[in-house]
Amino acid sequence: MKKNILILLLALLLGSTAFAQNATIKIDIDRTIGEIDPNIYGVFMEPIHFNGARMGLPDSVDFNTLYGTLYDPASSKANEDGFIKDYIDAMKELKITNMRWPGGNFLMGYDWKDGIGSKDQRPTRINLAWGGKDNNHVGTDEWMKLNKSIGSENVVAVNLGLGSILDAAYWVEYCNYKGGTYYSDLRAKNGHAAPYNVKIWDLGNEVDGLPWELGHKNADDYVETAREAAKAMKAVDPSIKLVGSGSSYYEPTGKWIDWNRKVLNGIGDKIDYLSIHRYWEGGSPDNYYAYMGDGAMDFDEKIKIVAGQIATASVQNDFKHPIHLSVDEWGAFARNFMAVLPIAQCLNSFIRHADVVKMANFTMLTSLLSNDPKNGTFKSPVFYTFKAFSNNCIGTSVDTYVSCDTFGTAQYRGIPYLDVTAVYSKETNKIVVNVINRHQDKAITADVISASGNFSGKAEASIVNSDDLKAPFDFASQAQYIPVTKEAKFSGNKLTYTFPPHSFTQIKASLAR
Ligand code: AHR
Repeated sequence: MKKNILILLLALLLGSTAFAQNATIKIDIDRTIGEIDPNIYGVFMEPIHFNGARMGLPDSVDFNTLYGTLYDPASSKANEDGFIKDYIDAMKELKITNMRWPGGNFLMGYDWKDGIGSKDQRPTRINLAWGGKDNNHVGTDEWMKLNKSIGSENVVAVNLGLGSILDAAYWVEYCNYKGGTYYSDLRAKNGHAAPYNVKIWDLGNEVDGLPWELGHKNADDYVETAREAAKAMKAVDPSIKLVGSGSSYYEPTGKWIDWNRKVLNGIGDKIDYLSIHRYWEGGSPDNYYAYMGDGAMDFDEKIKIVAGQIATASVQNDFKHPIHLSVDEWGAFARNFMAVLPIAQCLNSFIRHADVVKMANFTMLTSLLSNDPKNGTFKSPVFYTFKAFSNNCIGTSVDTYVSCDTFGTAQYRGIPYLDVTAVYSKETNKIVVNVINRHQDKAITADVISASGNFSGKAEASIVNSDDLKAPFDFASQAQYIPVTKEAKFSGNKLTYTFPPHSFTQIKASLAR
């Protein structure tokens, strides 16, 4: 009997040794991936309208992401332009660099000319993409004011769905032409004499989205339309940068790959970015590992494949200019902690591919704050996670070596429990290490080794985590969402830290060199 107990204890000991979660992370700031473009910290915004029936609620419930949420001139919380100050303050705190507007699917049925001039003269239209009515009270000049108050750039998407190329060129004229033409003078008449100088313009939205997109086109037709639109828009302002609509319709036949190839070969000479959209695709959050693992692998894979396609097309066509990747819609939408690690992992993917991903737009601006219908907005772990990246991860993305245990899903094998990126700032000589421990139950202790000099000063770890992954974010708990900050101990070039299960930790340290 005693012998049996001994064997059992030994087996348990060996078992726990086999699952010991120790890891090594090595960072060498001389092994650089690329400069992080601050434009990866952008947002996307459009008027999405939901009625109750659509949300499984009584039909009297009516919700719009823009009207009544971000824009509500009657609210005591609105600024002089009618935008809710909470959101503006939050976007400033997040240091949001750019905002892509006015859509999205909405855009492809939108006439920008409805949204200028005196508000009481603007036509009310049916929101063709999302249903409900749109009084056009937020139009070009209001979007510009919103971005001005945030301190972000405008990225304007033109309607290449149901709209015309001529209207796209006229919109560039309204925004960017200095004066003396019909639309530039109209802008001045509307109170804005100086041109807005919008630098980046999107050529449509999700044009390959056959089942849902207004004015969907096949790849050949899109190439023709986008090429001619580029010609006309650049005739108005040759300095603008253009974003081609890459695929966002990942049906299982792989046609999305053909779409990107045709668009790159067809208009690669005209565009500066190819855009893709990807929302977290991990399946049901009830299956934790599939949700975390499949979602992360899929997201990174999309970036890698499209980056390869851009490189291929650039060589085949001998393009002399770089084409970057813009992930201009992305997000994860659980209203609990299950959204947090996906968001951190997506941001890690952008940093890992900093050489090619030069713009990204989180959907939506308003989702970066939580909203309690009775008490108003509050900052959830989603806000703090985004902030940790957008405030601290500016500089050079440096390669990381990670050795740790892995897990598998039905789709992918060998997924490391730790998802790690590192960012170095020459100006401050500081290194930021972003670590997501995807293990559901185990903490992982890692040695973080700097291959290019000792750590110096004090290192700090800030942790975003929750005991209850499924608890909805709530107004009353907002104080608990503020990341916990701890000192991270190091000796020489080795910093050892234990990353709690299902957590996002950001370590900030200085290098002695
Ligand atoms: O963000 C919601 C919608 O998702 C956008 O309008 C569209 O571009 C995407 O399909």
